[in-house]
Amino acid sequence: MKFIAKTSAGLEDILAEELLSNNYSDVKILRRAVTFTGNLGELYRANYCLRTALRIIWPISEFTAVNETELYNKIYEIPWEDYFDYRKSIYIDVSAYSNNFRHTGFLAQKTKDAVVDRFRDKFTIRPSVDKIDPDIVINVHIYEDNVTISLDSSGKTLNQRGYRKFTGEAPLNEVLASAMILISKWDKKSLLIDPMCGSGTIPIEAAYIATNTPPGFNRKYYSFMSWSSYNEKELTFVKERANADIMPSEAEIICSDLNPEMVDFAFNNAKNAGMVDYITFKKEDFFDTKQTQNAGIIICNPPYGERIQMDDLITFYNNIGSHLKHQYQGFKAVLLSMDNDAAKSIGLKTSKKVKLFNGPIECKYQEYNLYQGSRKHKEV
Ligand SMILES: C[S@@+](CC[C@H](N)C(=O)[O-])C[C@H]1O[C@@H](n2cnc3c(N)ncnc32)[C@H](O)[C@@H]1O
Repeated sequence: MKFIAKTSAGLEDILAEELLSNNYSDVKILRRAVTFTGNLGELYRANYCLRTALRIIWPISEFTAVNETELYNKIYEIPWEDYFDYRKSIYIDVSAYSNNFRHTGFLAQKTKDAVVDRFRDKFTIRPSVDKIDPDIVINVHIYEDNVTISLDSSGKTLNQRGYRKFTGEAPLNEVLASAMILISKWDKKSLLIDPMCGSGTIPIEAAYIATNTPPGFNRKYYSFMSWSSYNEKELTFVKERANADIMPSEAEIICSDLNPEMVDFAFNNAKNAGMVDYITFKKEDFFDTKQTQNAGIIICNPPYGERIQMDDLITFYNNIGSHLKHQYQGFKAVLLSMDNDAAKSIGLKTSKKVKLFNGPIECKYQEYNLYQGSRKHKEV
C-alpha cells in the first residue's frame, strides 16, 4: 500500500530521513509530502512514531474528471461501506489546483453528497458530517483533471501530541520544534538550552528525542481507529514495540524564559508529556545567562516582534548575537526567526539556513557555530 506523509514546506528532506531511518520503503519526496509504502501496521507505526509528519493519508482511488457531475459519479462508485460504517461522522478536506474545479467549498459539498448518497441508497441511513471532531476525514486532491481520493489516517494533525495544554502568544508547532532539533543533528547527549522557552515545546520535543519516546505517546486518537479495518491488537503491538526503545535521557536540557508564567506553562506541559524529570526549568533573562559548560546547543525561537517596533527588534537580535558570541563560545546555536532585518542584525555567520513555515508564517532556520571571531561585523 502507498501512503503519503504530509508536512510543511521545507521539512520534506528531514521527514524523508526519518522515514528511511524507520526502515520504510519506496521513500520519495514530493512538495510538502513524502510517499512511502507499507501495510496497515506500518501506517499505525508512522502515525505513532514520525516526529516531522503532520498527517498521513492513504490514496484509495485515482481517476480523471472534467466536471462536478463526473466527480460526483466517480466518488459515488468508491465502495465507502468497505472503509467505514454509516455510524461514523465524516469531514471532507479539499485541495484543488485546476481550471475546471475552483471552489473547494462546493467540491467538498459534492464529495459529501456522493459519499452519503451511496450509504443512503445501500442502507437507507447515512453518515453525518462533523466539521469539528469527525471520526473519518476524506481528503480530495485535484490537480487539473487528476483526482486523488484518500483516507486521512491521522485526523487531527500529528503535531497535536496531547501534552500541550498551556500556551503563550506564539507557541511553536511541535512538528517544527522537533524538525529544528533533528535538522541541527543534536547528538541527544550534550547540553541543550532553550533560553526563550515559552510553553516549552523545544525542550519537551528534545526530551522525547533524547529518551526515544514516540511523539504519539500521549495521543489518544487517530482517524484510522474509526476505519472498518482497524485492528486494535496490531496498534497495541506497534506501540509496545516502539515503547520498548524508550530509555532514560543522558542529556541535560534547560528550559528558561524571562516570563515566570511561561516557565510554569512549560513545566506543566512537560509534566503532561511525562518529560518533567529530564528538563531543568528556570526563570531567567537570556541576557543574564552565563556559559557553564564548554559545549552544547542553544535552540530557540525568539519573539517575532509583532508587538515590538522594528528598531527595538533589530537591537534585540543584535544583542542576542552579541550575547551568544561572548557567553557561549564552543556552542552551536539554532534560531528560528522571521526573515526580516531584525534576524539579519544578529550579525553572526550562519553555517546552515533553511526556509521553513510556522503555520502560515514564513521563517528562517539559522544555525551558527560559535567560536572566537564568529561575529560577522561590528556590533551596532
Ligand atoms: C516566540 S516565544 C517562544 C515560543 C516557544 N518556542 C513555544 O513553543 O511556546 C518567545 C519567548 O521569548 C521570551 N523572551 C523574550 N525576551 C526574553 C529574554 N530577554 N530572556 C528570556 N526570554 C525572553 C518570551 O517571554 C516568549 O515566551
